[in-house]
Amino acid sequence: MTERPKILVTQRVPDPAYPSLQAIGEVEANMEEGLIWPYEELLRRGPGHEYIYCLLTDNIDARFLEACAAALPRTKMIANMAVGFNNIDLNAATRLGIAVSNTPGVLSDTTADLAFALLMATARRIPEAERFLRAGKYTGWGPLLFCGADVHHSTLGLIGAGRIGKIVAKRASGFEMRVLYYGVRRLSLAEEAEYHLDYVPLDELLQQADFISIHVPYMPSTHHLISEREFNLMKPSAILINTARGPIVDEKALVRALQSGRIAGAGLDVFENEPAVEPELLSMENVVLLPHIASASLQTRTLMAAMASDNLVAHFYGKRPPNILNPEVLENPGYRP
Ligand code: DGY
Repeated sequence: MTERPKILVTQRVPDPAYPSLQAIGEVEANMEEGLIWPYEELLRRGPGHEYIYCLLTDNIDARFLEACAAALPRTKMIANMAVGFNNIDLNAATRLGIAVSNTPGVLSDTTADLAFALLMATARRIPEAERFLRAGKYTGWGPLLFCGADVHHSTLGLIGAGRIGKIVAKRASGFEMRVLYYGVRRLSLAEEAEYHLDYVPLDELLQQADFISIHVPYMPSTHHLISEREFNLMKPSAILINTARGPIVDEKALVRALQSGRIAGAGLDVFENEPAVEPELLSMENVVLLPHIASASLQTRTLMAAMASDNLVAHFYGKRPPNILNPEVLENPGYRP
């Protein structure tokens, strides 16, 4: 390894991320807020850096990783500032001996808050009512004006009860909701009791829940987990909330389910082809749409930014990055940090 490694930071991130990187290496950083380098530019700039600090909008695919592994200096590590890492081909990174880390845990509460806010906003039609008022249409209280759905004492179905799902369950208990969950692995009875969760098969959850909130990672097995068949099982009054990853929901099937009244509404923070949104959704009043901001509190984004740096710096010092996703890379006897 060179004395001071070359580090690339692909997007403008919160300030606390930089000092510890600058202390160990030569940092090249995209400092233009909101600028996401297109793939070809990333491919041109990335190879030749020992460390790449990236974001979920960077496509770190096998082609990119192969170029990084072939260039000199060789890339040692990809530090993703996100808990989700479906933007990175982890198998290719592992095959090429490149370590990968993410930022779990620090964003769970903030993401759960937003999931609940989206649930409330969709159920109680808050953005729609606010648009109505701002448009000067409010002429007085009305007994039928913007009647929505009750959240308290309703049934919430969590698809996934990991770090974030469990915290959403805690939020729901304040609203005295009944909380069902489905996951590939069932929690221990102690955890189910702690979070007041009832395990049910997915189809049963879809049939019983008033609100369905998605909290699983995106991977081949969760691609279009919610599609035509699943919408057909839901109650006509059901509201779907997605703060996980867009492609878990078949967005075209969602549009059809909303248009036909198969379900009542949706609150979406993520989209199948982000940042593109199915155009029909944009004109639907019963849908609340957000630009992937579930973890976007200043405190949390700052913690995520620092955590990604900490992972990278730990690797530089020959330590195990606390949030390494492919530890087998470090354990390989042929590996040189
Ligand atoms: C993540 O970290 O994966 C979220 O989607 C963005 O904070």
